[in-house]
This record gives sequence, structure tokens and C-alpha cells, in this order.
Amino acid sequence: MILSGAGISAESGIPTFRDSDGLWNNHRIEDVATIEAYYRNPEMVHDFYNELKPDLLKAEPNPAHLAITRLQNEYKNGTVSVVTQNVDLLHEKAGNRNVYHIHGRIDEAVCMNCGQVMTAKGEVTTETVCPQCGVPAMMKPNIVFFGENLLRMNEVDALLDKCRLFIAVGTSGAVYPANTFARTAKYHGADTIEFNLHTTVNNRDFDRHVIGKAGETLPIYVDELLKES
Ligand code: OAD
Repeated sequence: MILSGAGISAESGIPTFRDSDGLWNNHRIEDVATIEAYYRNPEMVHDFYNELKPDLLKAEPNPAHLAITRLQNEYKNGTVSVVTQNVDLLHEKAGNRNVYHIHGRIDEAVCMNCGQVMTAKGEVTTETVCPQCGVPAMMKPNIVFFGENLLRMNEVDALLDKCRLFIAVGTSGAVYPANTFARTAKYHGADTIEFNLHTTVNNRDFDRHVIGKAGETLPIYVDELLKES
């Protein structure tokens, strides 16, 4: 299993959340990324994601994403799944398969009235009407806010159970529960490896650390893995 975080998209020009030029820099998390903020001030939350959306949609995958496609196409020792905390679509654009967006997707909105998920490549506002139930003002970006449950966790739990190799790429390990996945995988017997610019707070959960830019280090590691398989 590959767990990706904002760092894998950094070389595609998308700022991470917690580095110095991070996405939160000009916004407080409490204003734009909590479910309370959405109920309190949906206009501000919509504005934030509507502004972010075009940049995320036009970004292109980098060598780290493409290395995963190569691994998925050529690896003979098992199936490679990608569990991502990212709401961008760079894994899909690179041709990755078995992608699980546990924090949602920037190109979707979800109705808080009936649960319908719709594709929303353009702006979503408090005027947007749900195509399923017809209720206006209830469409929320399909992004998991603090205070909400993660998506697809049943499938991810099953993957963690049988995972033999757990690879974390570009995640700070600051956000629960994704920051417990390495430990769970290790508990179930997986080898664990981390790719980051530096070791993270969860460094004890990893057997191996590869320090550097994922776009440079991951393709080399994929070569190693493919040689072994
Ligand atoms: P963070 O911004 O917390 O961490 C990004 C990590 O990537 C840091 O540890 C960096 O050192 C590392 N990094 C930066 N550039 C890199 C590169 N070129 N190669 C390798 N590593 C690099 O982002 P996440 O861990 O993804 O949730 O944050 C988790 C969640 O916090 C996000 O999904 C977001 C936020 O709440 C939602 O949007 C729902």
C-alpha cells in the first residue's frame, strides 16, 4: 500500500499544508476546514475551495506519481493500492489505479441533505441545488473536514490487514487516522518505508527512511522493487 500526502504533489506546484508556503498560510484551519466552519460560514468555505480548485485541476503529475503507475503495471509480487490524503487528481492523471481518496476529491460536491455525490469541476456555492433531492444550499465540497469521518475506511482497513509493504510518501503524519496506518500495517507484519524531505514525528513506525524529493527518490526505489520482483 502506498499512502500519499501533500508532499507527493509539491513538485507539481501544489503547496503542502504545513510547510512554510503551505495552503493554510493565509487561512485559519478553523475557518475553512472544519465542519463547524462550513455550517457557520458556508460562503467563506466555498470561496476558499472555489479559488483553490482551478489550480488543483490544472496541475500535472510528476515523476513520483508516474513511478507508481510503472510499479502498478510491472510489479509481480502483489497488487499496489494507493490511499491518498490528497484531494487533487494527480494519481488518476498519472494513470494510477486502485486509488482511495480518504479525504475526498476537489472535483466533487456532496449533498448534506441526501448524501448524493456529484461531479463539480466548476464553482459550488450556497445557491447550488442538489441534482438528486433538489434541495438548495446543502452542497458541500466533497472534502473531509475536521470533525467528519474519513471516506472508504472499511476498504482501507481491509487493505491494511493484508498489506505486506507499506510506503508513505510526502505526509507529515500530523493528521489522524492516516498517521496510524504505518503502525497498523507494521503490526500486521508489513515492512514500512517513508519518503519525505526529513524524518517525521512517526519515524519509529518505519523500518526505513528515504530522505529527499519524492520525484527523485521514488522512481529509484521503484526500479529497486521491480528488480527484486
Ligand atoms: P502536510 O503539509 O502536513 O505534510 C507534507 C509533508 O510532505 C511534509 O512532511 C513535508 O516534509 C513533505 N514534503 C514536502 N515536499 C516534499 C517532496 N517534494 N517530496 C517528499 N516529501 C515532501 O500534508 P499531509 O500530511 O498530506 O486534509 O496533511 C494531511 C492532511 O492535513 C491533508 O490531507 C489535509 C490537511 O488537513 C484535508 O484536506 C482533508
